[in-house]
Formats: sequence, C-alpha cells, structure tokens
Amino acid sequence: MSEKPSYLGLLNAISVAETDAGCYLDQWASVTPSDDVRAVIRTIALRETEHGLAFAKRIDELGYVVQPRVDPKNAERMAIAASTALSDKEKFEALGLGRSPQNGTSDVFDNFFENKDLDPVTGGLLGRYVAEERDSGRKFQACYAILCADAEKAAAKSNGHKGKGKAVPAQWGLRILKCKANTEMVGVELPVDPWKDFRAGTRISEGLRVAHATLQREGTTNGSIVLVSDLEILPDEVVRLSDVAAELRQDGIGLRIVPLFPTPAKYARIRQIVGDSAFLRESSAASPVAAPEGRSLRHALPWAFVLVALGLVLLLAVNERLLSRLEVRR
Ligand SMILES: [Fe+2]
Repeated sequence: MSEKPSYLGLLNAISVAETDAGCYLDQWASVTPSDDVRAVIRTIALRETEHGLAFAKRIDELGYVVQPRVDPKNAERMAIAASTALSDKEKFEALGLGRSPQNGTSDVFDNFFENKDLDPVTGGLLGRYVAEERDSGRKFQACYAILCADAEKAAAKSNGHKGKGKAVPAQWGLRILKCKANTEMVGVELPVDPWKDFRAGTRISEGLRVAHATLQREGTTNGSIVLVSDLEILPDEVVRLSDVAAELRQDGIGLRIVPLFPTPAKYARIRQIVGDSAFLRESSAASPVAAPEGRSLRHALPWAFVLVALGLVLLLAVNERLLSRLEVRR
C-alpha cells in the first residue's frame, strides 16, 4: 500500500471548511432582502460547496475518506448568516468577509505550495481553488463597498446633510469609512485597525515558533518543547503547524504534547501532523502522563541486574565446559 500523502490533512481541512462555508453562505443568500447581495453570495456559496466536494473527490481518488470535523465557530457563523436582525453590511463585518486580497501581502493560501510532495493533479486542484478563493474575496469586497456607500448615504440623509460623504458631525468623534459605489475607496485615511491581526482559535504554531527560536537563541542542543493544549485549532492552522513540526524535526528538537482532554477528532488531527510519539498522554482524561521512553522496554528493564545475571550464566557455562561438574553434596 502506498504511503499516506503528507498533504492529506490539508485536503481534508479544505473540504470540511469549504462545505461549512457553503452552508452558511447559502443560508445568508436565502434571507437577504437584496437581490444584488443574493447574487454575489449565492455565486460564492456554490463555489464553496463545489470546493468541498472537489476536495472530497480528490481524497477519495487518493484512496481515503474525508474525516468530518466540527468547527466550534461554525454554529456562530451560521447564526450570523441566518439572522434577519443583522444587516448585510453587519454580516460582512461580523464574518470578516469584506477584505480583498492584495498583492504584496500574504494570505492563508501562500503556504499551500511549499509542500514539495504535491502530485500534479492535487496541485492543479489547489491552484484553481486558490484563484477562485481570491476572486471570491474581490467579489465580497466589491459588494461590501457598495453596502458601505449605501449606509453612508442613508446616514447623511437622516442627518439632513445631502452633501455626499460629509454627513457625520465632527463631534461624534468617529471617522466613517467612505466608499465609492464600484469598489474603489476614495479620499480615505483610515485609522489603524487594532483588530486587523486578531483571530479566534489557538495559534499553536506561533507558540512553537517562539519556543524554537528561544532554544536556538540559547544555543541549546537536544532540547525539547512541551506543549500543553486542548489541541483546538482552526483549519488554516494545519499547514502552519505542519511546517513548524517539520522544522523542529529537522533541527532535532523533540516535541512533547500533554493534551488537555481534546475530542477524539482534535486528537487525531494533531496526531496526524506530529505523529504518535509526541504525545505524553492518550486523549482520555484518565490516562496517566508518561514520557514515550517511559513506556519503552529500555526504560522498563533493570539493565544492571540483567547484565550481572548474564555474566553469572556465562561463568556457569564456562565452568560446565572447562572444569569439573558442580557436585551437590547430600
Ligand atoms: Fe472558501
């Protein structure tokens, strides 16, 4: 049987995340009051659903089956998408979908092609997927910009100011985003968004990177890193974590993990990335914590005793062979 592809986890994460996204976007399309917004959201919902199936199909072609994963954030996304109390503009903001990909900046897809094992068919699928995802980002951003412009016009009207883009009284202390109807932002000087790098979920990879850098800075050889975690990560963390685990292996740094009662699915996902031997405890809460070598024969055997016993056996054998037999007096 051929070896399991190193990128199987990535394909699984994409299939699951895209299927989830297709569901909540479809829900949004069904409740939006705007035909224009519906057209955009429905197009992208179809894309996401098709991505989920295309990656499930590729996993099947490789001889495996998609492993379902429950994203704890998905219920919240579904509630936002299905809400009839939130406006479409508010949904874009709550779901973080109004940003367009920019050349010269990195995004979550940049690392996908760093895996040198990718087969051509999977590479082709990933290429199409990334291009469509970035195009969806542009469509989202264009739609959001129009909603911003509409909101600004409505705010200006309700304040009795019909001069475009100058409606907000200065004493409000707010700087409102000015948007132009076909996507371009004009005359905008935005304050630094303090939430721009904020994201939910655990960044295990970042913690491991810092620990790795610390060991290198201190010149430690044969060091190891102990990670205590509930192993909850978002799908886009899989690639980063795989990279960090590979770097640690390359530098001979051991990774020891004490899982804090993860679900079997989370446990299996991380085990797929870092391997069995990294875990100091099984996923169940009752399992004792023990270093891998503590479970090995090397650690369990009293080697000094075994060596002395072997020496005695050897001496007895020599005695039997070369000297007279041992007589037992009665
Ligand atoms: Fe997507």
